[in-house]
Amino acid sequence: MISREKISFNTTNYEILLSQNFDELGEEIIKLKNFSKIFIISEKKVTDLYYIQVSEVLKKHKLTHELILMKGSEKNKHIKNVRPVYNSLIKNGADRKSILLALGGGVVGDFTGFIASTFLRGIRFIQVPTTLLAMVDSSVGGKVAVNVDFGKNMVGAFHQPSVVYAGIHSLKTLKPTEWRCGLAEVIKHSLLQGKDFFKKMQTFHLGSLENLDDLKFMILESVKFKKEIVSQDEKEIGLRGILNLGHTLGHAIESLTKYKKYSHGEAVAMGLVFAIELSIFKKGLNLEIYSDLIKLLNSFSIKPIDKKLKMNKLIEHMYHDKKTSDKKLKFILLDKLGEPSFGNEITEEEILKVYKIYSEKL
Ligand SMILES: NC(=O)c1ccc[n+]([C@@H]2O[C@H](COP(=O)([O-])OP(=O)(O)OC[C@H]3O[C@@H](n4cnc5c(N)ncnc54)[C@H](O)[C@@H]3O)[C@@H](O)[C@H]2O)c1
Repeated sequence: MISREKISFNTTNYEILLSQNFDELGEEIIKLKNFSKIFIISEKKVTDLYYIQVSEVLKKHKLTHELILMKGSEKNKHIKNVRPVYNSLIKNGADRKSILLALGGGVVGDFTGFIASTFLRGIRFIQVPTTLLAMVDSSVGGKVAVNVDFGKNMVGAFHQPSVVYAGIHSLKTLKPTEWRCGLAEVIKHSLLQGKDFFKKMQTFHLGSLENLDDLKFMILESVKFKKEIVSQDEKEIGLRGILNLGHTLGHAIESLTKYKKYSHGEAVAMGLVFAIELSIFKKGLNLEIYSDLIKLLNSFSIKPIDKKLKMNKLIEHMYHDKKTSDKKLKFILLDKLGEPSFGNEITEEEILKVYKIYSEKL
């Protein structure tokens, strides 16, 4: 059974579909109508696992398609790798009615979306996310981007997909670190959404991800939450910024450790813990949420802190965060569970004080 979530913006709307496998992908593509060829953009690891399945489903519906391979991993989501794909599209007869299909994690999704947003001034694309992070986060909301030499995601657009189709079976082959990466974003959504979702998350642990219903619930709740937020603020003018909960410290950890020691999600998880500590200190947030969060991270084998990282060094990296203005450090905090607030200025002294109090307990 497919679960369907409709997402609406001022100028467009589309469905986010969650299915057990890829079997119904062909039917969903046919509904898009009036298209020519489909170009599947993917990377080797994912095509080795899933290309035949996807290709068979498309063949069953006589959907003409072609595979264009990109190199996987963050460093290859780079502007320099865009041109060869434009060339392949042109050589293989792509036109304004062509549809790109991103088969892979967030790297493939962001990269393909960027190409779709620019090729022939914008063509349609489909997201077929195959990582948990891509299912719950990057495939929803239309942010597409590539990296340049000076930073991540610095060139991009808001370009909504025509449909998002996730086959949960593809998660079975994910490595533990990729699970943790997606779970951190799910936990972030549950803290932002509030009581029901966060409470339900307390009943889950690594083992419960084997249970399809639990896994489906978790993905759907996350998608529903992100959908609610981004549909109210497509271009991240305001509200969408709350999705950066945990990211001020998370980005600083990634940057200090040169993007090598922790995945984005693992860094965000530590950032979430710190955002909650600051929320207790500045906003009087209930302490119980903190102990529940630590328990939840433990149950998913996600680290809440790395005491080897020096907070004064991390502070230096926080000044590069996009929320920093006039040399002031700003955090998204929770006034209450499910009630985030923006633009909370926190001094370096406060950061060091809060970090000292809590790091001794963990
Ligand atoms: N657009 C957005 O709103 C948004 C939001 C969050 C993150 N992102 C972007 O998403 C990217 C991270 O996405 P990600 O975590 O999915 O990383 P990723 O795409 O690099 O995938 C992680 C790893 O999992 C492998 N993989 C993918 N699917 C698999 C499967 N089914 N089985 C086994 N292995 C599989 C990949 O080959 C890769 O090694 C970053 O570039 C980030 O900037 C974008």
